[in-house]
Amino acid sequence: MTRETTRMKTLWYMGAKTRLCEEFLDGAVRDLLSPGGTLLDACCGTAAVARWFAPGYRILANDSQQFSSVIARAHLEGDGEWTQELDRLEPQQDLGLAIRENQRLLDGLVPKALELEDSILSQVIDAVTGPDESPELLDRYRAFVSEAPLPDGSAADMHISSLHQPLAMRMPELLEQRMQDPSKAPALMCTAYWAHVYFGIRQATRIDSIRHAIDQIPMDDPHRCRKQTLYLAALLHAVSVSTSGTSHFAQPRSIARDSELVAVARRRMIDIDVQFELALDAIRTEWLESPRLDGNKVYCSDIHRLLEAGSPLDEEDVDLVYLDPPYTADNYSRFYHVLETLVEYDYPQLQTRGGELTRGRYPGQEKRFTSDFCSSIKAEDAFRSVARSCKERGASLLISYSTDTGLLTRKWRNLGDENPASRFRNMLLEYYGRVEIREKTLMHSGQGDSNRSVRELLLLCEG
Ligand SMILES: C[S@@+](CC[C@H](N)C(=O)[O-])C[C@H]1O[C@@H](n2cnc3c(N)ncnc32)[C@H](O)[C@@H]1O
Repeated sequence: MTRETTRMKTLWYMGAKTRLCEEFLDGAVRDLLSPGGTLLDACCGTAAVARWFAPGYRILANDSQQFSSVIARAHLEGDGEWTQELDRLEPQQDLGLAIRENQRLLDGLVPKALELEDSILSQVIDAVTGPDESPELLDRYRAFVSEAPLPDGSAADMHISSLHQPLAMRMPELLEQRMQDPSKAPALMCTAYWAHVYFGIRQATRIDSIRHAIDQIPMDDPHRCRKQTLYLAALLHAVSVSTSGTSHFAQPRSIARDSELVAVARRRMIDIDVQFELALDAIRTEWLESPRLDGNKVYCSDIHRLLEAGSPLDEEDVDLVYLDPPYTADNYSRFYHVLETLVEYDYPQLQTRGGELTRGRYPGQEKRFTSDFCSSIKAEDAFRSVARSCKERGASLLISYSTDTGLLTRKWRNLGDENPASRFRNMLLEYYGRVEIREKTLMHSGQGDSNRSVRELLLLCEG
């Protein structure tokens, strides 16, 4: 079994289990599941766990977010014919022409902004880290960013520097057309919504152009669907590692402080095409080096719906469900809204507050999935419902959670329970005959609390 290849991070993601697969999860899964059995990774996120176990088990994977299911599908679903196709894939032939055409049209919408950004980012970095300080250069970049047009068209009436023309003047008209017909060329959702916010303008135009080209793969290509999934997964990786934010899209990073501005400039110099190609190579290599068992499937559903009777899961025999839900009140749909919207590419209405666009440029709340695991009121019932359904389906259950920082375990502790892990076990014993607790101490490096130790919890339920 090749282990080096599965170490590639598909996404920068909160709570990814990449580090824990080998040292913690592997033993637990092998204790619960015989080789060749079927594992359902119920909240698969980056697909790190599904990928780790794919060489030895049949994998079903699920997540409520579409971007996660795209990543999982690219890594898990396919047959012998697809493996051969992967070996002879020609991305330039599939995408090159449509990328170039979209890019040409976008170049015409923001010619001066692209030219300025191409030259100024490295100068901004030198201006802070080099021997000669030049604060006027930093101010120039800040002004350039602050004068960029807003996607609600509001800035089109205000003074906008000529640097952002003609896009600024045409923004309302271009967006209105695309809200009615998202396939209209040039594709410009990322450029209009998130340039100068989560990406540089060069990056945003490349993201739009690659995304557009993926949609243009001809209908009569026999591998169209799988190619689109593969290319989209590679683009999601490129987008994820290029965010100007820390590692997600919950809030754009402020560029008020010089050190933050340099960090943002460094991120904005990341070449989207290079990251895209690296991700593509990594997925192909992993696929070719560790073949998958037949019959892998990926779903995109609220896990509660998927486990209910009458769902597509009725066609499958599931031996073990691995549940790794969110640990905190932070909904993934907020932290990764850019990835989700890029998959949909439907120019959604953006959320406003007090009539103004939010800084985070999120799609409206109705487009964002809200998880019961992120609600301190609903989390206990959410676990109970999964345990009940898994037991009814005859599957064992393995749960990952945090002993110390989980929403539910913290709630129990605040209510006076000294041993939340044991309370968790007792709750699961209402559904399963045997429940074993395993714990591992991890060093957590978070903001302001670096190198705090937290206990990662596993609950193994069977019988
Ligand atoms: C801790 S992350 C999983 C990380 C994953 N094991 C990995 O290694 O990348 C939690 C995941 O649960 C998903 N999620 C949250 N609520 C869900 C629900 N009700 N049904 C399905 N997925 C859900 C989130 O979208 C997120 O991807």
